[in-house]
Amino acid sequence: MAHPDRDDHRVVAAPRTTNEEDAPVSNSALTEYLKQTSPDAVSPAFLAYIAALETVAHAAPAAARAVVQELADQRRYVKLIASENYCSMATQLAMGNLLTDKYAEGVPGKRFYEGCDNVDTAEAYACDQACALFGCDHAYVQPHSGADANLIAYWAILQARVEAPALEKLGVTNPSKLSDADWASLRHALGNQRLLGMDYYSGGHLTHGYRHNVSAKMFDAHTYGVSRETGLIDYDALEAQVNELHPLILLAGYSAYPRAIDFRRLRKMADAVGAVFMVDMAHFAGLVAGGVFEGDFNPIRHAHVVTTTTHKTLRGPRGGLVLCTHEFADFVDKGCPLVIGGPLGHIIASKAVALTEANTPAFRDYAHRIVKNAACLAKTFIDEGLDVVTGGTDNHLMLIDATSCGLTGRQGAGALRQCSITVNFNSLPYDPNGPLITSGLRVGTPAVTTLGMGEAEMKELASIFALVLKNTAPAPIASGPNVGKPSKREFTIDGAAANEARARVANLLGQFPVYPELDLAFLQKHFGA
Ligand SMILES: Cc1ncc(COP(=O)(O)O)c(C=O)c1O
Repeated sequence: MAHPDRDDHRVVAAPRTTNEEDAPVSNSALTEYLKQTSPDAVSPAFLAYIAALETVAHAAPAAARAVVQELADQRRYVKLIASENYCSMATQLAMGNLLTDKYAEGVPGKRFYEGCDNVDTAEAYACDQACALFGCDHAYVQPHSGADANLIAYWAILQARVEAPALEKLGVTNPSKLSDADWASLRHALGNQRLLGMDYYSGGHLTHGYRHNVSAKMFDAHTYGVSRETGLIDYDALEAQVNELHPLILLAGYSAYPRAIDFRRLRKMADAVGAVFMVDMAHFAGLVAGGVFEGDFNPIRHAHVVTTTTHKTLRGPRGGLVLCTHEFADFVDKGCPLVIGGPLGHIIASKAVALTEANTPAFRDYAHRIVKNAACLAKTFIDEGLDVVTGGTDNHLMLIDATSCGLTGRQGAGALRQCSITVNFNSLPYDPNGPLITSGLRVGTPAVTTLGMGEAEMKELASIFALVLKNTAPAPIASGPNVGKPSKREFTIDGAAANEARARVANLLGQFPVYPELDLAFLQKHFGA
């Protein structure tokens, strides 16, 4: 007679055969997991991961290996990259489904292909969740990324404020009906509108008018910076610039600005010159969702159009959103065919999960802990003698001037990575070093806060960070005309300090494991990473 425990397992897992002798002898990871785990201890998320990896490995073992190796790396390096996070298992698992197979151009209820009912359900649900979470009039959840979201927003604004009035004047609704001469004149008008966004070196994003990005090629793009003295936005100087330039779009938002922005004041500036006020909250959307940025600091209350990524502080899948007032809704909804093609139904399903998760008291608590941890981290950096730009942070990120330790940003980030800390090197305002060297390090707390770390761990992290930077020095240039001078890329780290740093990071990560549901050793054994 079969052992009752084994019977229990077979109810859940074993391949069904009519004859015991015919039963396939499987050494699959899935079978092994189910054999070694009592039914009430089975983790649905880990089970799903094993099943997915086993299926993937069957088709492409290297792809499965890369996933497992990434888990191994995430368990080894503490993630202080301000733009990254760890999304939930539900968010991850929602991405792996057959909605990817469906073409669904259009928006729910208005598609170009038949058979879109289930994408409609997922997308309408995600839109409702986004509106409920942010309190906006309208949400468009199709952008594949933050860069896409910005392009869609730009073109929606151009349609609303330039193309639609021009068509009305010419008495048509469809641009295809224009003569070649009228079309050429409209294209000229569309291509000569003015954008005023934050300068890349002051913390703005590449998509905000950086000359290497399409945003600077499609607009007459101008930028505003931060004060050389304070590192902060000078609102009076910005107001003067807005009044002088009369932009079509005044754009706020950043990748590397450590302070809250007074959006009410910027809206007033935009209104004074008839500009559209757009905010790219890609970095701090989670802080808006979680109620950290309220009133004057909540962009939804003040901007006409707000864009975001879904994968940073918002902790969703990689993707973007456009949120807007009723005035822009119909134009934003034409993101396809304006900018993108078919939406990613499987990612939209995952966005729906993440947006639902963000609309909970637990997420509000998470958002507040992000900024509390960031404030503590910044203060401890300063106590350790590091130079924190603007003297601290109001949000989830901070900038450290690595030159205060005699290093470039690139050397600082390289040394920290060798000591199991992942950050990115970043330009500082008025940085004398170019974007591939830089003088700064950008540090953020969204990911470590997801792991459950608090202020005690922030103090430990800042102390390890300082230990590494203080024990790193530029290496001398080995050859060429500058031989012997200090390199801006190469560096040397004191071995004992590096060993100590790595051990202390390992100790921290041991207490706060990344994706604790996943048994790394088991996955490595089966998928070979
Ligand atoms: C402010 C801002 N906007 C847009 C983006 C672009 O997002 P994605 O990388 O998803 O295209 C980023 C990414 O870092 C960002 O920081």
